[in-house]
Amino acid sequence: MLESGPEMSLVCLTDFQEHAREHLSKSTRDFIEGGADDSVTRDENIAAFKRIRLRPRYLRDVSEVDTRTTIQGEEISAPICIAPTGFHCLVWPDGEMSTARAAQAAGICYITSTFASCSLEDIVIAAPEGLRWFQLYVHPDLQLNKQLIQRVESLGFKALVITLDAPVCGNRRHDIRNQLRKNLTLTDLQSPKKGNSIPYFQMTPISTSLCWNDLSWFQSITRLPIILKGILTKEDAELAVKHKVQGIIVSNHGGRQLDEVLASIDALTEVVAAVKGKIEVYLDGGVRTGNDVLKALALGARCIFLGRPILWGLAYKGEHGVKEVLNILTNEFHTSMALTGCRSVAEINRNLIQFSRL
Ligand code: FNR
Repeated sequence: MLESGPEMSLVCLTDFQEHAREHLSKSTRDFIEGGADDSVTRDENIAAFKRIRLRPRYLRDVSEVDTRTTIQGEEISAPICIAPTGFHCLVWPDGEMSTARAAQAAGICYITSTFASCSLEDIVIAAPEGLRWFQLYVHPDLQLNKQLIQRVESLGFKALVITLDAPVCGNRRHDIRNQLRKNLTLTDLQSPKKGNSIPYFQMTPISTSLCWNDLSWFQSITRLPIILKGILTKEDAELAVKHKVQGIIVSNHGGRQLDEVLASIDALTEVVAAVKGKIEVYLDGGVRTGNDVLKALALGARCIFLGRPILWGLAYKGEHGVKEVLNILTNEFHTSMALTGCRSVAEINRNLIQFSRL
């Protein structure tokens, strides 16, 4: 058993995973950890980072290392932000409110999910100064999207992240076995007039017919920058640029949607090459160490987003657990920068990567 209290020793992100495994109910643990089908891609996200080797440079005065950067023009304390994940109240009573507080304290961006289990208003009240983006699962009823986006905009969210890789839900065997969908409810998307929660799966149809040409409709109803989450190919990256969105998150949904696609870090290079610096490219999937962050940045990501590790932190100690996860990873990244001779994020580049091993 892991101890709690000041003497306990959770020193890396996988320690938090272990702690969550021991303390969460089976169905919640399975919901968080699960991948689609055989979980090939979920595991590959981690393994692919470990195949990449680094080329450090020395004698470069690393007495001061600065991890700060910007995304969409907003400063963040480190290129380590929070990916959208649903139902934070499953693992901690205050759910997304705690996550938002931790993100605000850390000075990084928190992407709030369409499937947040706290209301968007409560999340904003909990951390009014935090940088927040909103992740949208496009609803088949366009007017519902419009209402939600306008609400998000007026609440001060700074970007709209549209998830592309879930026109239908991937096969998550554990969730099917655990009959998870029957038991989850969603408070946020319900009409403001109805007070009661509605079961998640009835409440959340996601458009199966969304196309590239629909993006102009979203651009016509919001001034928020639009970020497309879930792109894995140069073809789609080129279309994203052509359709004038402001950013791409290279992601395979943590291996929870289509199984047997490339690891995110392996897809990053072709996406970065295709956008030719015209828009920002971010990455999520399998980031667990400071070296992983460094590798993603060296290969062209502007920042990375964490999915499961945030839920492990939340399950450990709510806001404080998430803060610890962010703090540990930022410290590791700081060390990775110093040990490779990078004094600023701008100095992290492709020369740090040993290409023959890729
Ligand atoms: C997710 N993810 C996700 N993505 C999204 O766009 N909207 C969502 O509501 C959710 N919900 C969600 C729940 C849980 C439990 C997980 C694990 C993941 C995917 C998420 O944003 C991200 O792409 C991956 O989690 C990143 O991989 P890692 O960091 O978990 O390896």
